[in-house]
Amino acid sequence: PRPILLTRHGESKDNVRGRIGGDTVLSDKGEIYAKKLSNFVEKRLKSERAASIWTSTLQRTILTASHLGGFPKIQWRALDEIYAGVCDGMTYEEIKKNMPEEYEARKKDKLRYRYPRGESYLDVIQRLEPVIIELERQRAPVVVISHQAVLRALYSYFADRPLKEVPHIEIPLHTIIEIQMGVSGVQEKRYKLMD
Ligand code: G3H
Repeated sequence: PRPILLTRHGESKDNVRGRIGGDTVLSDKGEIYAKKLSNFVEKRLKSERAASIWTSTLQRTILTASHLGGFPKIQWRALDEIYAGVCDGMTYEEIKKNMPEEYEARKKDKLRYRYPRGESYLDVIQRLEPVIIELERQRAPVVVISHQAVLRALYSYFADRPLKEVPHIEIPLHTIIEIQMGVSGVQEKRYKLMD
């Protein structure tokens, strides 16, 4: 059976500063992950010539894929991070201080909360539908390089986790989640390549 490899982008400069959203490049650590990921994937999918690499349209995922040669790459807008609307580029501290009602509303119902002029987790889940259809149609392995909120939703779909858990699932940086869909259900392996 063909594996699906899910990973977040390498650490970005905004991850380091604690800012959400944005479209920054990778930190030095994130760069190292991009190289490690490429070594891992080349070994893991050595004999799988039809494999493909799917990223979002944001720099940090495209840069994380940049060392991966020899595989076709596809950019999906549907794999872009949850859009925080007016809060894009802020830290959680700043949101708490400047927009306390928004902060509280999100804490109360993170799944349904929609950022002003932005998205909710439910919005993200909905926009992922074509990606999921295409993933299920693939016969060859796919490496999906995306973002925390989006991967929470994708992972939950394949791991059959309840909707209400989606916004709280841990998808650590610098870790590959390998999903195998076999006749007897879904199997999962994790590879932590660095801290
Ligand atoms: O930038 C957004 C984060 O990756 C999503 O985190 O939904 O837990 O705030 P959150």
